[in-house]
Amino acid sequence: MSESIEVDLNRLPRHVAIIMDGNGRWAQKKRKPRLFGHKAGATSVQEIVEVSGELGIEFLTLYAFSSENWRRPEQEVSGLMSILKHYLESELPKMQKNGIRLVSIGDQTRLPDAVRKSLQSVIKATENNRKLTLNLALSYGGRDEIVRAVKKISQRCVSGDLDVQSLCDDDISQSLDTCGMPDPDLLIRTGGEARLSNFLLWQLSYAEIYFTGVMWPDFRKDVYLNAIADFQQRQRRFGKTGEQVIKE
Ligand code: IPE
Ligand code: IPE
Ligand code: MG
Repeated sequence: MSESIEVDLNRLPRHVAIIMDGNGRWAQKKRKPRLFGHKAGATSVQEIVEVSGELGIEFLTLYAFSSENWRRPEQEVSGLMSILKHYLESELPKMQKNGIRLVSIGDQTRLPDAVRKSLQSVIKATENNRKLTLNLALSYGGRDEIVRAVKKISQRCVSGDLDVQSLCDDDISQSLDTCGMPDPDLLIRTGGEARLSNFLLWQLSYAEIYFTGVMWPDFRKDVYLNAIADFQQRQRRFGKTGEQVIKE
């Protein structure tokens, strides 16, 4: 652990979510193709997953490919898909060794067959691991997820399984792709933009947000620990006054 950065291991965020942005600009600055940046970004993923496990974080959600990213040039999309497939296949032994359980959110039906198969096989192989849950957001969009949840809920109402009048928060949470996971406590976005880009629209309602100008391929252990230390300085009030929170 880095000595200069003070992280309190007893007050860790349970769930960290990250918008991994800036791969393309990082590569362009080095006069390299965008895919060079995505490959370097995969190394940051390895490091951040490893550090999260070592710290004892329970859930790590990584925004790897959005429902809008399908609009990118076909060559970039297929390059990203092949990096993803390679990542899944090559990381499996490490996931097993480190007790990492892989799950995924998003519309898997849009993924190429080969990627979906790798994804499903790693999910199955790691389902009993208990240390860190690594949640990959793939072909994921917050609005798309909400639309799919509304369809599920409507069907249950029509079939009489759910009563419209008794519908509550929890019914919605349980119908989302993140069913069973706690909401993120900390959202980090790298790459300098200050927006959500359709990420976890429902689940981020009370997340602490940390924006950094560091590009994702440069986001390594120290920057991550800084984000967590910053999170630990904040007072989460959930609508109450600061005084009420201190007394709790
Ligand atoms: C994030 O990096 C990775 C994905 C969206 C897949 P970008 O590719 O968006 O990088 P920039 O924002 O163009 O620098
Ligand atoms: C968000 O980054 C999606 C991922 C990191 C996977 P984008 O680079 O796609 O976001 P916008 O389009 O600039 O908002
Ligand atoms: Mg971007």
